[in-house]
Amino acid sequence: TSDHLRHVESMATMPSGAGNISHPNAVILGESLASEENDLVFPSDHFSRQAHVSSPQQYLEMYKRSIEDPAGFWSDIAATFFWKQKWGQPVYSENLDVRKGDIRIEWFRGGITNICYNCLDTNVEAGLGDKIAFYWEGNELGVDATLTYTQLLHNVCQLANYLKDVGVKKGDAVVVYLPMLMELPITMLACARIGAVHSVVFAGFSAESLAQRIVDCKPKVVITCNAVKRGSKVIHLKDIVDAALIESSQSGVSVDVCLTYENQLAMKRESTKWLEGRDVWWQDVIPKYPTTCAVDWVDAEDPLFLLYTSGSTGKPKGVLHTTGGYMVYAATTFKYAFDYSSSDIYWCTADCGWITGHSYVTYGPLLNGATAVLYEGAPNYPDPGRCWDVVDKYKVTIFYTAPTLVRSLMRDSDKYVTRYSRKSLRVLGSVGEPINPSAWRFSSLLLSDSKASLHTQKEWFFNVVGDSKCPISDTWWQTETGGFMITPLPGAWPQKPGSATFPFFGVQAVIVDEKGVEIEGECSGYLCVKSSWPGAFRTLYGDHERYETTYFKPFPGYYFSGDGCSRDKDGYHWLTGRVDDVINVSGHRIGTAEVESALVSHPQCAEAAVVGIEHEVKGQGIYAFVTLVEGVPYSEELRKSLVLAVRKQIGAFAAPDRIHWAPGLPKTRSGKIMRRILRKIASRQLDELGDTSTLAEPNVVDQLIALADV
Ligand code: PRX
Repeated sequence: TSDHLRHVESMATMPSGAGNISHPNAVILGESLASEENDLVFPSDHFSRQAHVSSPQQYLEMYKRSIEDPAGFWSDIAATFFWKQKWGQPVYSENLDVRKGDIRIEWFRGGITNICYNCLDTNVEAGLGDKIAFYWEGNELGVDATLTYTQLLHNVCQLANYLKDVGVKKGDAVVVYLPMLMELPITMLACARIGAVHSVVFAGFSAESLAQRIVDCKPKVVITCNAVKRGSKVIHLKDIVDAALIESSQSGVSVDVCLTYENQLAMKRESTKWLEGRDVWWQDVIPKYPTTCAVDWVDAEDPLFLLYTSGSTGKPKGVLHTTGGYMVYAATTFKYAFDYSSSDIYWCTADCGWITGHSYVTYGPLLNGATAVLYEGAPNYPDPGRCWDVVDKYKVTIFYTAPTLVRSLMRDSDKYVTRYSRKSLRVLGSVGEPINPSAWRFSSLLLSDSKASLHTQKEWFFNVVGDSKCPISDTWWQTETGGFMITPLPGAWPQKPGSATFPFFGVQAVIVDEKGVEIEGECSGYLCVKSSWPGAFRTLYGDHERYETTYFKPFPGYYFSGDGCSRDKDGYHWLTGRVDDVINVSGHRIGTAEVESALVSHPQCAEAAVVGIEHEVKGQGIYAFVTLVEGVPYSEELRKSLVLAVRKQIGAFAAPDRIHWAPGLPKTRSGKIMRRILRKIASRQLDELGDTSTLAEPNVVDQLIALADV
């Protein structure tokens, strides 16, 4: 921290906002990547003047206080929320050091509140009842809807009353498998209202993945819809839920109620398969319930939601967030990182099936009384201009998305962007993967596509989408962190394209070496966090030991993020990607072990080893080496059925991009697969294979190279 403060202190002498992007140090287009660290993009004076945090000095003052007096800093912010009863003392308590006993993080213990009440009731009472909470934009052009804060509250109360009626109580889990309909945030809020724990499963996961999650958290109710249209495809979600429920009941977990929303635009109820007694149409029951519902008050440390994420073993981890700290943290990060003010119209393209949709589609915006856009469809449907069409339609001022979307859209002609005005935009945001160098600072070198030459060396997101006037908040965080950890505050300091810049208030980000020793100054190493922040996850559901082993044992005394990071001479942070066996595909975390176990479930696959490779659109792609059962010949048909096995077990988004037939895998004499070598073969860096002499059978490497293009 002291190191971090020193850097920021020296930065405090910079002329914030001065001269806008024509500042002498400002970004110079067409420079080589090596100069990236020195590129500065300044917010305009106008932007900085109106910002919540308008200078490095102001950030520094606030940051210092947040570190020196976390209890005071966060209590002052928490006091702006509604608490039925104020929290006790101490404001927080923690142990992040495995050597000193169990890992434990608590914030605002004894405080009694409800996040749904703070999202809806308090805003309605404050006079925002008629303000639009959500604009919903359907997949098809011209299909849309709105909900005001009052209407949203009524809808939430009706569902909450129903859930209580079917026996859902405080602490019970509810699994949600819905696409981006209004019913998705409505469901999350209804659960929160009655103290139930929602576990949203992204509606792109397969029946098997859904079943695995159902078996783990044993919900009373599953909530879904019959089908959804994404682009021109109709996806039958209820069929997937049906299959998952058969599978989970075989594992001894049966679900009493499957509440199903009839999504008439995609499928009529008559064609939906139905299990009488278990399945209930949303539209048949929910509207009959009263539009008011008393809140179940909960302790700040009562669980709010579970969200499963991938780790380095095959079993997904149920990340558990509690109520009070998460609420304060999601709201505060939203306000500062996007420089939110009440006139903003905010659109985050993430799906509520991921953490981004929890913190920054649902809770963060609503806690701030914001108007947000929910988009049901595919971002390039009916054409690659759809996002900018939506921006103009709702006059979106803050647009938050993932680099993968930026990269896929910039492959098409700029005319899809420039035919829309986008003049409402004032802040852009990015999340999920490093956007350097392909998106903020776009290098055409990474794109083999001939269309790419149109965009040579342009900072596409900044220059084309944002017309060179919108700061970009490149937010680094994780499912586990609940909210932003390292992020620009867009009016406070100049940005460097591709850097997430500095830690948020209260976050003591440190870089450690392989021995777990903090390194100062310009350096690179493992990104850790010293001491807790209110939005931190409290455990892995049902497996506190795995929580400690995965996150707190690698570097005792610290929370370990699993990411590599470097810090430049000015103290800016540059995320370099995962350092564990997790692949980041289009911003979605996928464990190599999960894909491997899906592959070996195929009867003709004997062994599999999966590594990540650079992918021009997805950031990382999945590259799978497979060894077949003795005597089985490799064929195109077999390749397809291996890919299908992964789609079926995990979901389409985890399908391998390449299957590489491997009669043998490079292993040490003790039988450990040498992934380092596989990564080099996958990325065709054959002159960097390194020492292969320790392999049990060194000739398998030549064999693999010879089969690279089969
Ligand atoms: O590797 C980091 C990457 O995404 C991981 C977290 O994934 P998940 O929990 O699914 O949450 C995604 C949305 C927060 C991190 O460990 N990551 C996330 N944001 C960034 C990033 N990598 C670089 N830059 C970012 N801005």
